[in-house]
Amino acid sequence: MAKKNLIRRSWAEPYKMKMVELMKMTTRAERTKFIREAGYNTFLLRSRDVYIDLLTDSGTNAMSDQQWSAFMRGDEAYAGSESYYRLEAAIQKFYGYKYIIPTHQGRGAENILSQILIKKGDIVPGNMYFTTTRLHQELAGGTFQDIIIDEAHDSNSEFPFKGNIDLNKLEALVKKHGAAKIPYVSIATNVNMAGGQPISMKNLKELRAYTRKHGIRVIHDMTRVAENAYFIQQREPGYGKKSIKSIVKEICSLTDGATMSAKKDALVNIGGFMAINDHDVFEEARNLVVIYEGLHTYGGLAGRDMEAIAVGIEESLSDDHQHARVGQVEYLGQKMISYGLPIVKPIGGHGIFVDAKAFLPHINQEEFPAQALAAEIYIDSGVRTMERGIVSAGRKPNGQNYLPKLELVRFTIPRRVFTQAHMDVVAESAAAVYEKRKKIKGLKMVYEPKYLRFFQAKFKPLG
Ligand code: F0G
Repeated sequence: MAKKNLIRRSWAEPYKMKMVELMKMTTRAERTKFIREAGYNTFLLRSRDVYIDLLTDSGTNAMSDQQWSAFMRGDEAYAGSESYYRLEAAIQKFYGYKYIIPTHQGRGAENILSQILIKKGDIVPGNMYFTTTRLHQELAGGTFQDIIIDEAHDSNSEFPFKGNIDLNKLEALVKKHGAAKIPYVSIATNVNMAGGQPISMKNLKELRAYTRKHGIRVIHDMTRVAENAYFIQQREPGYGKKSIKSIVKEICSLTDGATMSAKKDALVNIGGFMAINDHDVFEEARNLVVIYEGLHTYGGLAGRDMEAIAVGIEESLSDDHQHARVGQVEYLGQKMISYGLPIVKPIGGHGIFVDAKAFLPHINQEEFPAQALAAEIYIDSGVRTMERGIVSAGRKPNGQNYLPKLELVRFTIPRRVFTQAHMDVVAESAAAVYEKRKKIKGLKMVYEPKYLRFFQAKFKPLG
């Protein structure tokens, strides 16, 4: 029998702290008042009143010493900035796309791309929606159709690639509407709304073969592509010995273009871009970007921002970085599972998604269980999370509410910001709220903005 190694070998973060940001603790009475004033919407809290901020992993990352140094090198020329050329070179080298358009963040790229590729009446199939992405597709006259596999809508399914496309659903759309009505398939790597779930390389290859046959483009929301590549490395046969760098490049090579929110994977606080291999689309994008963002060599960013993204892209592709990044999410998830909390499985890449329907079965979906739970967790500990359910899903162009199967509270983990001890505090708070879950009441929406209502809607407790 092989000798068993009984000594535990832990991993630790591949960085150390050089500067810290102080946080303030508040009392339960103060937090009860703050969340009431915020209309029970965690987006409307002031950050000074938040203890551990897990609202989002977007723009909340800690930059490295290398990124801060690159900041100093920013070329702030209005036109032809050297920083633009360094960003372009990094995108071409690490992702492999030919032409790039910087934008102020991801939705800036989504706006331009949707305007160019989508005509009124078009169908845009995708692996689950993302809020801003779908809205830009709709504003351009398209209709989004969800073609993700059914497992993605089941928080208990342990399927390892819940981001996969169901090619039968795509085929049905092609048969019904014709390929000419489908400008592109909108795929996201590490699908946010499904719980940070990856798409497999096998599925991507099948999608590429199918779309090539029908002359349909594949556009890649690559906001969390490195986290997806980590899961492919860990879970997909044949990829265990490949680097994240090479897996990311292979993913991109199976698509025709991309939109990117650099505020996630790429470890910066602001920025994004559109990338495309088709020169004609690039020409149009270069024309449109000057209307909405800025000249094509800065697209709404300062030169220093483009420098930080260029460095961040390379850092995000380090195997050690992703191991620690996803490892921290895994640590929090396992801790929550050990407390018996219902979370989306498998544990995803950028956060833990608590199943609010299972957590609060006595609150029906029209009474916003996830919104109510996020408010309750804030009151308990000052931990800020976010609703990802019926409020986020919003309304269809015809005014009806979308009714998503998943009604979730997202505990999103910024990169390189919190320690394992913070994760313990978070899990313990969620467990404490779970113990008194029967006392939690639903909410009534008292103010609803027209677009992306989850950001600014206000609520009142029922009863
Ligand atoms: N695509 C995905 C998958 C995203 O998660 C986001 C942003 C965007 C596009 C839009 O990018 O914010 O730079 O304009 N997600 C953030 C979140 C806001 O909290 O999940 P952006």
